[in-house]
Amino acid sequence: MAPSSSSTLIHFFLLSSLILFISLSSPTTLALSKPKPPKSLFLPISKVDGTSLQTTTQYVTHIKQRTPLVSVNLTVDLGGRSLWAVIDDDYVSSTRTTHNCNSTQCKLASRTRVCPFGDPCFLPIHHPTLDSSQGGSLCDDVLSLQLTNAISYATIPHYLFGCATNYMIVGLADGVTGAAGLGRSKIALPLQLASTFKFDKKFVVCLPSSTNAKGFVVFGNLVPNSGVSAVPLTYTPLLSNPVSTVPAPRGEPSYEYFIGVKSVHVNNKRVPFNTSLLAIDRKSGNGGSKISTGHPYTALKTEIYNALIEAFVREAEAMKLKRVTAVEPFGACFSSKGVASSRFGPAVPTIGLVLESKNVWRMFGANSMVNVGKDVMCLGFVEGDYDEMTSIVIGGRQLEDIVLQFDLASSKMGFSSTLLANQTSCSTYFNF
Ligand SMILES: *[C@@H]1O[C@H](CO)[C@@H](O)[C@H](O)[C@H]1NC(C)=O
Ligand SMILES: *[C@@H]1O[C@H](CO)[C@@H](O)[C@H](O)[C@H]1NC(C)=O
Ligand SMILES: *[C@@H]1O[C@H](CO)[C@@H](O)[C@H](O)[C@H]1NC(C)=O
Ligand SMILES: *[C@@H]1O[C@H](CO)[C@@H](O)[C@H](O)[C@H]1NC(C)=O
Repeated sequence: MAPSSSSTLIHFFLLSSLILFISLSSPTTLALSKPKPPKSLFLPISKVDGTSLQTTTQYVTHIKQRTPLVSVNLTVDLGGRSLWAVIDDDYVSSTRTTHNCNSTQCKLASRTRVCPFGDPCFLPIHHPTLDSSQGGSLCDDVLSLQLTNAISYATIPHYLFGCATNYMIVGLADGVTGAAGLGRSKIALPLQLASTFKFDKKFVVCLPSSTNAKGFVVFGNLVPNSGVSAVPLTYTPLLSNPVSTVPAPRGEPSYEYFIGVKSVHVNNKRVPFNTSLLAIDRKSGNGGSKISTGHPYTALKTEIYNALIEAFVREAEAMKLKRVTAVEPFGACFSSKGVASSRFGPAVPTIGLVLESKNVWRMFGANSMVNVGKDVMCLGFVEGDYDEMTSIVIGGRQLEDIVLQFDLASSKMGFSSTLLANQTSCSTYFNF
């Protein structure tokens, strides 16, 4: 009898101290069973160098998905309309669901909701680095993302994403089986996470400049005045483009991030070209300027490209830089021998994008130049493809080691100066 009554007593003590603990720690007993929703979520980013003409430089992240959870590598696609993953024999999950064309999920995913193949909800899948698209379908599955404390994960039981065929794997970096779309659609990561966890509709991106450095995306609310949130930002409005610049059903807007560039300067001198190229034609969707992680270098319409090369070379020669034979795909290369180097990178002419807000996005050597082989550096801007609709596509090299904040609620973008000038980099802020 004795052991049993003493264990009852212990139970009683445990129970009463538990009740005491609950009543002390929180006004509601739910606090114990249900963790507080996260205020922000985190994606680590690494840079993977291109290995061929098709497999260009990309910024790669990883998430956990499926049941049982596995780690999945995805290429970051800043303007992508959804997260998507290749569905093949390696995609094993007991929880994957597909949605039909009449579902509320399909209405959320697609404004125009075309379902040419019958019942499944059709979702265009955009390749992040080759400008190609394919038909896919809307699926959901368990998704798990890191909290900014880097220890715990937040899990979403029914995260909406695109199911793609394995043709889409061409051109993705080794071990990558999809893309992390960060565009302005309701189902891309920023808004789907914000609506799931009720946090701010904004995110911060910091792309690393080397393959052994770290970068990140943080969704939601940053800890105020600390770490990356203390980096001073300059803001410019985000603009809408009513016409998708990637293949999509008729009537779909672009989910990419457009900003208003008013003119381009080199060493504070205006580069002469017809600035009507900088406006977005609201009928055709042509023109304007956007940010793209799928382009390794800023791509310019021919007229702007030629004018920039001419202006840059003139200023560079005035600074006594020696022009050498160009190396593809670049048009202006210089000997890097004897070129002074500062915290802003090699001392070369400064490129300025004068924005709608009258603020100037200044690009110094650290972001404008690319080292190619021994003693040669090139201006890291390229001529855009003839079928590129957008006049200025600001690419990866020009985005590295700066902080970019996309605020979807107030439709503005914040950008910092190069972190290198402050003797920091994305890696510095990696630990939150
Ligand atoms: C979808 O909705 C339409 C119109 O309401 C209806 O005619 C059709 O049968 C529905 N299809 C399915 C698969 O539920
Ligand atoms: C994801 O990428 C990492 C780093 O490149 C690699 O080690 C890993 O094998 C990849 N995962 C898969 C599933 O291929
Ligand atoms: C420079 O770094 C310090 C310390 O991390 C930070 O407080 C400051 O805001 C940074 N300034 C810029 C311009 O990034
Ligand atoms: C600039 O381009 C637009 C559209 O092609 C054209 O209508 C306009 O005449 C051009 N302006 C100049 C100054 O060439």
